Amino acid sequence: MKLRIAILLLSGVGYGLGAALLSTDDGPTPAKVESLEPKYFKDLGAKRVKITYGPYVVPGNADPETHGMKLFQDMNAMMPCHECLITQYTADLQFINGTSANANKNMWLHHIGLMNLHRTDAACEEWPERMSINGNERSPVDMTIKGTRKAGYYLRKDDQILLSTDAMNLHPQAQTVTLVMEWEYIPGTPDDFDIAVPVWLDLRGACLNESRGARESDLVFDAKTTSPWISQFAGDLILMVPHIHDGNTKQEVYLNGKLVCRNVPGYGETSGYITHLEGTGEHHDHGKDSHVLHVSSVSQCRNVGKVVPGDKFSLTSFYNMTEHTPMMNHDGSFETIMGIEFLHFARPRDEVVKEILAMKPGSLQSFLDWVTELDAQPPVFPLHS
Ligand SMILES: *[C@@H]1O[C@H](CO)[C@@H](O)[C@H](O)[C@H]1NC(C)=O
Ligand SMILES: *[C@@H]1O[C@H](CO)[C@@H](O)[C@H](O)[C@H]1NC(C)=O
Ligand SMILES: *[C@@H]1O[C@H](CO)[C@@H](O)[C@H](O)[C@H]1NC(C)=O
Repeated sequence: MKLRIAILLLSGVGYGLGAALLSTDDGPTPAKVESLEPKYFKDLGAKRVKITYGPYVVPGNADPETHGMKLFQDMNAMMPCHECLITQYTADLQFINGTSANANKNMWLHHIGLMNLHRTDAACEEWPERMSINGNERSPVDMTIKGTRKAGYYLRKDDQILLSTDAMNLHPQAQTVTLVMEWEYIPGTPDDFDIAVPVWLDLRGACLNESRGARESDLVFDAKTTSPWISQFAGDLILMVPHIHDGNTKQEVYLNGKLVCRNVPGYGETSGYITHLEGTGEHHDHGKDSHVLHVSSVSQCRNVGKVVPGDKFSLTSFYNMTEHTPMMNHDGSFETIMGIEFLHFARPRDEVVKEILAMKPGSLQSFLDWVTELDAQPPVFPLHS
């Protein structure tokens, strides 16, 4: 299936200003692909490649239209392989000279999202499958748990992946960056491998439609899901990868009400994640100290256990804006907080392939319309009432 989405202009703060989706009838967008040494399953023919997406020119924060926030949408991103199992991946934002572009250089990987346009999302059936979201913490995703678990994300022949790179430039001038991803994969779908199925668990509900309004005055709060995500399938919950924003102190995920995962963020663990305020970051980093520490990693949960149909997942994300300086919008308001947990379930290969073959692609337009609408709304702090 070819997706013919000509130029689609999104509007709103943050997510879409100035973003354009380009038509993709010509196959994947060209990107630089380099071969690396694989880390695991070399005996099974594993391969590792580095793919450089972009370059992306991000306007400076003095730009009145974008304030330095720009979303780059690649409708048909170069993938490392097809008819293969993706076993792990990492993402980094870099300058053209190959050094990491990070908070200390006023350049943020605000968000990166991957979406498989030929599938149905496991949590929100209306949309295409959300494969992953990542932020400036640049969390690695390793479905093999360091080579100990035979599992991977199945990428089919015709799968088309939307790569959304949301870059934030706090420097007054434009800066040019690339998104550098390392992908490891195994060709084919070996018999003894399970297929990893991603599920997006979000504070705002399965279709991001359950926020509870803004209470910006609250500096310390715990934000909870209002309704759980209920699994329709049996599987082995092998990996849980969170995404939170500055201000977060921990995130907890509950299975049928019982705590199964606690993610703890690390702040300013390396110099890239520390902002020096005497620079130009004053709009977003409003701390009174001269150094502001930003989220530099978040712990993940692995080998969590078996899940059966009917199992209910919920989460609570804990924020303390007194303890950790939150991100600010250009107008001085707090940036919308997030509380997302990506659940990766290992499931029997033949069962998942059957489901995938029966899937109708979710509606990208419906997803884009909704996130555009969300962005046009005031920042959201989903609160524990
Ligand atoms: C690479 O480019 C960035 C952005 O222009 C700059 O800040 C950094 O100093 C450069 N690093 C090297 C080693 O050239
Ligand atoms: C959110 O959307 C889902 C899927 O359409 C629906 O089942 C659910 O009831 C909605 N929640 C609210 C609060 O509207
Ligand atoms: C929030 O952080 C402040 C400053 O570190 C601390 O005094 C307070 O106890 C924290 N509140 C909670 C609920 O953890």
